[in-house]
Amino acid sequence: TSSRRLTVVIFGATGDLAKKKLYPALYQLMLLGQLPRGDKIRIVGFGRRAVELQGFIKKQCANVKKDARLPFEDFASRLFFHGGGAYDKAPGFESLAVLLDELEQGLPTDRLFFLSVPPTVFGACAQHVSACCRAQAPKRWTRLIIEKPFGKDSDSFAELDASTSGSWSEDELFRIDHYLGKEVVLNLSTLRFANQLFEPTWNSKCIESVEITFKEDIGTQGRGGYFDGFGIIRDIMQNHLLQVLVLCAMEPPASDLPEDIQKAKVEVLKAMSIPSLDDAFLAQYTEDNFMSEPGYLEDPGVPDDSVTPTFAAIVLKINNERWKGVPFVVKAGKGLDERLAEVRVRYKSQPYNKLLVGPQAKNELVCRIQPDEALYLKTHTKKPGLEQEVEPTCMDMRYASTFGGSYLADAYERMFLNAAKGDSSLFVSSGELREAWRVFTPLLHAIDKTRPKPILYAFGERNPRGFRDWSLAHSGVKQRQSFMETLSGL
Ligand code: BG6
Repeated sequence: TSSRRLTVVIFGATGDLAKKKLYPALYQLMLLGQLPRGDKIRIVGFGRRAVELQGFIKKQCANVKKDARLPFEDFASRLFFHGGGAYDKAPGFESLAVLLDELEQGLPTDRLFFLSVPPTVFGACAQHVSACCRAQAPKRWTRLIIEKPFGKDSDSFAELDASTSGSWSEDELFRIDHYLGKEVVLNLSTLRFANQLFEPTWNSKCIESVEITFKEDIGTQGRGGYFDGFGIIRDIMQNHLLQVLVLCAMEPPASDLPEDIQKAKVEVLKAMSIPSLDDAFLAQYTEDNFMSEPGYLEDPGVPDDSVTPTFAAIVLKINNERWKGVPFVVKAGKGLDERLAEVRVRYKSQPYNKLLVGPQAKNELVCRIQPDEALYLKTHTKKPGLEQEVEPTCMDMRYASTFGGSYLADAYERMFLNAAKGDSSLFVSSGELREAWRVFTPLLHAIDKTRPKPILYAFGERNPRGFRDWSLAHSGVKQRQSFMETLSGL
């Protein structure tokens, strides 16, 4: 990829994502020699209004981690901006095409477009790019990276899908779920399929439950206007956590080709049962006990009577041979006590465990996605000494100590890189999204229609009140009591 000429265009270049993730990722990839440098690359920001370029660069590149190996001025000299007016009108795209031709000076160049624009203009923007801005030279590719929300339910997804697939072929479209670019998520398949230990026990005979957790210790932070129309299930669960679940639960794909991986993912999604309101625990955060953090309803974009959940837990079931009877508990919440994303695989105890330890002797494998990436396994060990005492112990593999000094790429770096390489194995296919919406739409519609009152929890709590009992009753999973218990995994 670094030897070809490339133009990257970011729609929504003045936005938050561009500042936090996209410009820093592009700098990093150029620094690491993974994208072309010098006059072989151009990065064009597209926004509605014209901006003063130097001021724009200063602001939107504030999060770039500068490194002497790529002087920032060299990077900045490759940045351009186009104020194109409305995202859903053709003229801005026609003038963009003129600018791109001018910048590329007629030399054959690939074009990579990233849409970071509101969902309302998504389809139109994709169509205009296709109609006006495709790479001109033969054998040069044009690709479009798009990011959620991919609709709000099955119907709106179908509509969006029709508007993008009308002008883009499936191998030109790269649908991002940035959780698929996280190091520990990428390792899930390696853990399962490159080791002999796990796969033979990876089934309902040996596994009691799988818990997939996302917690954030921040609230909506002014994004309430967007969030309120979506809620935590659409924001985190239907996409990020479901993708993680699918990687944990799918059958081994026939090969590592993107189409085989996507096929295995779709298969397991098809086997998932549809949860109802009874399978869901919904809650919303209020101001914290010290009154220093505002409640969800105080976010300026949120209506006073909103019942949108900021915390949800759902028990999902997979009706196939491997997973019959195993609950997958997915849980996601904002405004909680910590930032955490993890997968917790709880093993059943077996009759012979009684010989040495009680029936509570369960193994547990934890894949901690963030923070402080780690894999750890709860085991039992004979305590050294003359007595026959067994102690719970932890086989612990922290990335920071095991791979000290190695490079942990940000998810967006991998996404840009793989899209530039044309490798779609980490992107989400239209078939997966159709199934993902099949699973969640009935529940989401029931919530939208009946507006069940969420349980209220104070910002910063570990779990909403009642959640532990709910979890035990609905999935048999005993939630941990204290922070220390979770930290140790024991
Ligand atoms: C985004 C959600 O997709 O993921 C945000 O819209 C959330 O609400 C974010 O904060 C979490 O991503 P990460 O990588 O910080 O865990």
